[in-house]
Amino acid sequence: MANSGTAKIIDGKAFAAGLREKVAKQVAKLKADHNVTPGLAVVLVGENPASQVYTRNKSKQTVESGMESFKFDMPADTSQETLLGKVAELNADARVNGILVQLPLPDQIEEHAVVNAIDPAKDVDGFHVINTGLLATGQDALVPCTPLGCLMMLKDELGDLQGQKALVLGRSNIVGKPMAMLLIKESCTVTVAHSRTRDLPAEAREADILVAAVGRPQMVKGDWIKPGATVIDVGINRVPAEEEGKTRLVGDVDFDEAVNVAGAITPVPGGVGPMTIACLLHNTVTACCRQNGIDVPEA
Ligand code: GUN
Repeated sequence: MANSGTAKIIDGKAFAAGLREKVAKQVAKLKADHNVTPGLAVVLVGENPASQVYTRNKSKQTVESGMESFKFDMPADTSQETLLGKVAELNADARVNGILVQLPLPDQIEEHAVVNAIDPAKDVDGFHVINTGLLATGQDALVPCTPLGCLMMLKDELGDLQGQKALVLGRSNIVGKPMAMLLIKESCTVTVAHSRTRDLPAEAREADILVAAVGRPQMVKGDWIKPGATVIDVGINRVPAEEEGKTRLVGDVDFDEAVNVAGAITPVPGGVGPMTIACLLHNTVTACCRQNGIDVPEA
C-alpha cells in the first residue's frame, strides 16, 4: 500500500498550547500598553454533561490566558425571554468583549433567535448571520472556532492551499458550512458531501484535503482516502471500549486504517479538539481589539 503507516500525526494538542501561549502574550500586551483586559462571557443553559465539561474548560482556559471570565449557569427550564435578557445585559456590558451561548439549547428556546441577538462584534462563536454573511462574502468576520482551528493546522501542514481539492464531509452550521467557506477563500476546489451524497467513498478518494465532520464513529475507511492526502478528523464520538463497561473516544475517520494511506492526519483525541478553545480565546482577543480600535498585538 502506498505510504504504508507513514502518515504524519498532526499534534493538535501542541499546536493549541502554542496558540494559547501566543494569546496570553497578546493579552499581557493589551493590559500593559492599553490598560485593556479582554473579557469572555460563557452561558450554559441546562445540565448537558458534555456541555458542562466544555464550558468549564472554556472558562478555565480564559482565566489561564489572563482574560476575564464571566460564567453563567442557567436552569434547564429557562425561558427564551430570560435568556434573551441575559444576552442583552452582556451586549451592554463593556467588560464583556465576547459572548458564547453553549449549544445545544433546551427545546423551548429557539437557537437562531438567541444567536442572532448577540452583538455581532461580540459573537466569538461566529454563528450570527452577520458573521456568517461576512465569511461567505470573503469579508472580515469572526470565524467559527472549530473550522478556524482546522484551517490553521492545514496551513501549517501544507502552506498555500490554492488549487487543492478539498472534501468537507458534513454540512452543519458550526463546522461543515463555515469550513467550506474558509477553504473557498483559500482558493481550494471544494466539495461538500453529506449523508445523501451518492457515492461518498468515490468523492473522498478525489480529495487532497479531507475534513470529516459528520459525527459518525470511524465512518471514513482507509480505502476512501487518496494516498498522501491530509485528513482532518473533527469527530468526537464516545464508543464502548474493549474492556467491559468502559468507553473511549474515536473520530469520524478509522484512524488505524487511514494512517496507512494519508500523508498527514489529526488523531482523536489530541487533534482538532484542543484547537477549538484555543481559537475561542484567539477570537476573543480579536473582538476586544476591534471594539477598542486597537491593532491586534504581535505575540
Ligand atoms: N456546541 C458544540 N460546539 C460548540 C461551539 O463551538 N460553540 C457553542 N456555542 N456551542 C457548541
